[in-house]
Amino acid sequence: MSVAAAPPLLHAQGAACGKVILVGEHAVVHGCPALAAPLRAVNATVRVLPVAGPLQIETDQAGVDTQGLAQVAHATLARCGREAGGLTLRIQSNIPPQAGLGSSAATAIAVVRAVAAACDIALPPDALVELADIGEQAAHGRASGVDVAACLAEGAVRFVRGEPSVPVPLKSPVWLIVGDSGTPRNTRNAVAAVSGQPDPLRTRAFDVIAEATSQLELALREGNLDSAGAALNLAHTALSSLGVSTPALNALCQAATHAGALGAKLTGAGCGGCVVALSADEAGAQRVQTALRKAGAVTTFAERLTP
Ligand code: PMV
Repeated sequence: MSVAAAPPLLHAQGAACGKVILVGEHAVVHGCPALAAPLRAVNATVRVLPVAGPLQIETDQAGVDTQGLAQVAHATLARCGREAGGLTLRIQSNIPPQAGLGSSAATAIAVVRAVAAACDIALPPDALVELADIGEQAAHGRASGVDVAACLAEGAVRFVRGEPSVPVPLKSPVWLIVGDSGTPRNTRNAVAAVSGQPDPLRTRAFDVIAEATSQLELALREGNLDSAGAALNLAHTALSSLGVSTPALNALCQAATHAGALGAKLTGAGCGGCVVALSADEAGAQRVQTALRKAGAVTTFAERLTP
């Protein structure tokens, strides 16, 4: 009996947007909840070109973990019942790399979506998360999974390691303003540094971060934006005590607050990367963006987080 050959791979494309951690980074690695949201202003796109030979990955961005993405692509091919190779992946992304805005997670998701589309297979959402997480583990070692969950979210979500993320409905819209310090951050190193902090300092800081996370969730659900801003400030203090803030990140937070932000904190692993601030309206968000640029941010984004 002859076995039918698999149909050829299709030309296909997949994409995903960036993300912002609102509160809970680092503590989320150790089982505490985090709140995060997609950042639609930036995204990664992956095109599949079916070609004979081993898998090739093309990118013009520096620092892309092509080995981790190759693992993601091969695992996706296997999940779709295909053999390794036979395609080139062309990555295009405007997500600032090594900035804590989800560059690696979004690219991994885009790879899974593109490869599955090339195989003409619709993967269930949990398979998408599981396959993209392979890239996150390769890139960060002990990734909690919050980045993939946030890139895939429709709006603000509450995330606990090992659990599906839960949408957080907002009573009123709020503006997120992101400012990039321009200093690359390294998640693996920052997570290791925090994990190495002595107790009780570390446990106390995680308790404060967990308190800030509960406060922010309640504030967003109730539309209490002053309390939401205060939760960000509280989390920033705790993250600073863990040693992951920098003078540049502190200066950006201060500039945002002086410009009228409801609150501000570093976002992502820290030791570089970005800050996130909150504003009640668009005019306020613009003032905060201007202040962040004056204080040295190399890029800023403002986005309305909707109910
Ligand atoms: O990679 P970043 O900068 O988005 O940081 C991810 C958040 C951490 O809590 C620091 C790590 C993780 O896997 O949750």
